[in-house]
Order: sequence, then structure tokens, then C-alpha cells
Amino acid sequence: MTTPMDWDARYAEAELAYGSAPNDFLVQVADRIPPGPVLCLAEGQGRNAVFLASRGHPVTAVDQSAIGLARARDLAAAAGTTIETVVADLADFRIEPGTWSGIVAIFAHLPPLLRRRIHQAAVEGLRPGGCFVLEAYAPAQLALGTGGPKAPELLMTRTDLVAELRGLDFLVARELERDLHEGRYHVGKSAVVQILAQRPAPTRGRPSGSTRHFDFAGFKAAFERMDTETWLDFYATDAEWVEYTAKHPPRSPRRMAGREVIARFLDRVRTANVILRIEDEVIGRDRIAFRAWVSLPDGRRIVEHVMLTIRAGRIVRQVDVEISD
Ligand SMILES: C[S@@+](CC[C@H](N)C(=O)[O-])C[C@H]1O[C@@H](n2cnc3c(N)ncnc32)[C@H](O)[C@@H]1O
Repeated sequence: MTTPMDWDARYAEAELAYGSAPNDFLVQVADRIPPGPVLCLAEGQGRNAVFLASRGHPVTAVDQSAIGLARARDLAAAAGTTIETVVADLADFRIEPGTWSGIVAIFAHLPPLLRRRIHQAAVEGLRPGGCFVLEAYAPAQLALGTGGPKAPELLMTRTDLVAELRGLDFLVARELERDLHEGRYHVGKSAVVQILAQRPAPTRGRPSGSTRHFDFAGFKAAFERMDTETWLDFYATDAEWVEYTAKHPPRSPRRMAGREVIARFLDRVRTANVILRIEDEVIGRDRIAFRAWVSLPDGRRIVEHVMLTIRAGRIVRQVDVEISD
């Protein structure tokens, strides 16, 4: 077990922990963020927020450290600009859907479950055309020891991030070694992962959120392998799932609202000892229909017609109609 970081203590030191200069990768890609509001996650003492505010973005910086964000407001004042600050644990912070021109996560090392949830909310939180920018330490950093968390589960790989940010178009997605010089705590050769990804903008005849950005093959594989963790990742936070079955006829269908309810349902499916198959899929612009076969432990087979509605690469509505048993 590693000891949790005392961020308030670090941010109470006289010197700014990561300096006053913005992160280099953010500087390189900042002009890809369209005009409009930017949300900086786990923003600490505000070096990136102040840089973005100086470029004309209204910026909101969120961090759980009140001391860090007080330093961030001072840094903004010294630069002749202002930022909004929100002291919150990201576990309790709601990223409003469709709101942000940019969402920035620089060295925002969160536990994996929370990180996945935040990244999904970030995909939905971007406006069409908005950009997500991330730099974080990759697992190879543990051997270099030039900064960052000591707990391996807090480090990120390109593969994890591309899956967690499903629904965005990736303009940069790479792991690399580079020299960092950010205050006292990020110094020297470092193994990092960098992401610049954009929420697809609407194009003529093909609205954003279409099935173009939905990985149906990945969904099918997760469904048939009963990999419920990956399967759950395909649902939007506010997804709704409606089932019409013999037990739940049209006058009283089973309705599941929200990913947390769907997660509990998938847990029950995982332990039900059934075999699932998908066939005859038809992929439309915003909808996907297919037939699902459910083989029960007693040898019976149920057939369901399933319709998925897709927005921003994720399922927002699923309707299952059982047609025989
Ligand atoms: C390495 S610092 C990065 C700060 C800033 N992004 C930067 O690059 O200068 C990590 C930050 O994550 C914040 N943090 C960690 N867990 C958090 C959580 N659950 N909710 C909000 N902030 C969190 C810490 O308070 C800390 O400011």
C-alpha cells in the first residue's frame, strides 16, 4: 500500500509545486481548443488554467485541495486574469454534458474506476468540436522515478485511454519519454502518455453521435464474452434500457435508468450462467438493431430483438423485445 498524497501540505510550500509555467504538451496543442469555456480537472495550483484564461477562455478549475486553488487564484491575479475555482472531489463533481470547448487533465492521476467515470463524463461534457487534452505518467515512469504516483494503478496507458475516451476522434494518442521541468516535483526523463482528442462536429447529413463513432465489434465481443466491465463502458451515464419480456409485458416493461443501475443488472447477467450471441446486426446512422440469443442453463433459448440508440459513441437507449422462448 502506498500512502495517499497530502496535497494541501505540498501546496502550502513556499514554491509552486509544478511551477507557474503551463504544461508543455498543453502549450503545443492549445490552439486546437475552440473558443469557449474550458474545464481543468485536478488543476492544483492553476498553472494550466491561468495559461488558458490568458488565451481568452473562461476557465473553471476543479481540485480537491482548497490550498492549491487559493494559490491558483493568486496566480491568475498576478497574470492579470481570473479563473473560476471549484473545490471538490472529482468523485462528487458533475461534468455538465455538451458544455465545454475544452476539458484538460494534466497529471490527473485518479483511481481507475473514478478515472473511467470521469473520462466518460468528459466525452459527453464536450461540445461538438471541443477537445480533450491529457498528459499523464505511463507505467514505465515507475522505473524512472522522476515524479508522479508510486501506485501502479494510478498510471495510464494509451490503450486504456483510447478505450475510456471512446466516442472522440484522436488527433494525438501516444506514449513517449520526454524531459519534464515542472517545478520541484516533475524533473527529468519521464515516461508519459499524451492525448489530444476531439468530439466529432456535426457534418452534413451525418449528425455527431452517429454510429460512425460506435465500436460495434468491440461491443459485440464484450457482450458475447460476458466481459461486463467493457460492456458497461459502452453506455452513456444517463443511458436508459427498456425490456419487454414475458415477465415484463408492454403495460409494465422493465426500465433501467442510468449506468449505475445498468452496472448492477450486468452483474446479475454475468453470474446467471447464460451464453449470449449477437447476429444479423443492421447498423444505421444513429441506431443499431440486432438479434440476441440467450441460451439458459436449462437448455432453453430466448431470442430478443434489440435496438440501440447511439450518441457520441455511446448507447443512450436500449430496447429489448423478447420474441420467443
Ligand atoms: C500532480 S497534481 C497536478 C496538478 C495540475 N493539474 C498540474 O499539472 O499542475 C495532481 C492533482 O490532482 C488532485 N486530485 C487528486 N485526486 C483528486 C480527486 N479525487 N478529486 C479532485 N482532485 C484530485 C490533487 O489535489 C492534485 O492537485
